[in-house]
Amino acid sequence: MGGHTEVFLEKGASVYAFEWDEESLRIATERLRGYGERIKVYPYNFTYIKEVLQKEGVYADGVLLDLGLSSFLLEGSGRGFTFQKNEPLDMRMSQELTLTARDLLNRLSEEELGNVFYKGEVPKARCFAKWLCKKRKIKPLNTTFDLVDRIREFYKPPKKKEKDLFALVFQAIRIEVNQELKNLELALKNLPDILKPGGRIAVISFHSLEDRLVKRFFKKDERLALLTKKPVRPSQEEVRENPRARSAKLRVAERRI
Ligand SMILES: C[S@@+](CC[C@H](N)C(=O)[O-])C[C@H]1O[C@@H](n2cnc3c(N)ncnc32)[C@H](O)[C@@H]1O
Repeated sequence: MGGHTEVFLEKGASVYAFEWDEESLRIATERLRGYGERIKVYPYNFTYIKEVLQKEGVYADGVLLDLGLSSFLLEGSGRGFTFQKNEPLDMRMSQELTLTARDLLNRLSEEELGNVFYKGEVPKARCFAKWLCKKRKIKPLNTTFDLVDRIREFYKPPKKKEKDLFALVFQAIRIEVNQELKNLELALKNLPDILKPGGRIAVISFHSLEDRLVKRFFKKDERLALLTKKPVRPSQEEVRENPRARSAKLRVAERRI
């Protein structure tokens, strides 16, 4: 929605911004209208950052990847990202993606679905997938509440643990629908090439699967020096103001000169 971008612009930077969701892009563009030529907005997957900047003939002082979902996508988009409301099981962040969560849940083989849950660290991943595949023959899954009902039926979780389990299963499916880990890996690989010497990459991630990937990449890539031994976490005050920040981790690396 252009929040970070606006801060960079306020500080005098020029920003090349990437957002693959049309609606979020429209809102951000409107918000940033007053900054003229210093903001360029691209309706693309951030895996295209290198391609675009090279075409523009630009090297960056810094790149920020703020991963995952915005509050708008989660709560306001009606696309089935939340288990709190009954919505169609879509979960596509970008309209360019063709497969919805509903497609995956009703069409993937038992093994494929098991892998999706396993990679998402869902407990009893393969048993759950097997059970879902049996159940979907009787009644396919269409809405978020259909999925919530199935999770309840299979795991019979205690009330206190229900939300964590719903969140984990929803996240595993969302990661697959949007190919989030693959996109992150592809983007990271190219970022050092478009940085000026001394330029920085900062990544804010919201779950351990992403964070692990970022941490490993920053350690392994010889073009980079790690600036954050430990991830930067939000202060208590920030979490109070914005509870969704509670799982955020920021890691930063610098391009060696
Ligand atoms: C946490 S929000 C960013 C919020 C933003 N930094 C702000 O301050 O308003 C993450 C955004 O990244 C977008 N996004 C996620 N994966 C993307 C990708 N592969 N390419 C482009 N945009 C992506 C989502 O659609 C979402 O709007």
